[in-house]
Amino acid sequence: MKYKPSFTLLLVAFFGLISCSSNAQEQDAATGEIDKENILLVYLSRTGNTEAVAEIIQQEVGGEMVQLKLQTPYPENYDAIVEQVDKENETGYLPPLKTKIEDIQDYDTVFLGFPTWDMQLPPPMKSFLNEYDLSGKTVIPFNTNGGYGLGSSIQQVEELCPECNILDAFSTKGGLERDGIYLAIEGERRDQVHAEVTDWLQSIEIQ
Ligand SMILES: Cc1cc2nc3c(=O)[nH]c(=O)nc-3n(C[C@H](O)[C@H](O)[C@H](O)COP(=O)(O)O)c2cc1C
Repeated sequence: MKYKPSFTLLLVAFFGLISCSSNAQEQDAATGEIDKENILLVYLSRTGNTEAVAEIIQQEVGGEMVQLKLQTPYPENYDAIVEQVDKENETGYLPPLKTKIEDIQDYDTVFLGFPTWDMQLPPPMKSFLNEYDLSGKTVIPFNTNGGYGLGSSIQQVEELCPECNILDAFSTKGGLERDGIYLAIEGERRDQVHAEVTDWLQSIEIQ
């Protein structure tokens, strides 16, 4: 005899399926997982420390890495770059970017990496936030510095992106070019920073 499922059985199966799929969605929300296809990591790095942190984050969460480059690069000489950055901060000059990101609208989550310069957000990162509208996106700052912290950089990110959902920043000691210390996040220190990054990602519920 051919099996014919009853109408009640079909109803039970239908609602069972619906409740399974909504449970799956609730679980995703509960684990705080983000869509790895939609992650952009934009960073500025002169001596490689912030880039090392960007690489660690990418290893953990995936995403597209984009390094910010200027149309006219900064001088190699440390005193010359310090003088130029001071002047740019005083006058509010935004150095034009060579880097272009065509499909920024495709990303929901933007990690924003920068060193502390002049106890502020570096001018090229100000240029980026001025040029690209990140409203509605989740923005996650990360930073390296010479030991003096983030300065006013996070307030500046907030000012330049008032409609962004900005999560708690990661910040760690990198190099100190002034004293001839260039790439410091390597070897054992890189492993240590990797562990710090993993803890931070868990604390902001990205992992
Ligand atoms: C122009 C300039 C200004 C800097 N100003 C600061 C500062 O105000 N406070 C600080 O802690 N470190 C400062 N630093 C040191 C960098 O933040 C630190 O070396 C950082 O790790 C560099 O990152 P990077 O290797 O990704 O370029 C400055 C470095 C440069 C080149």
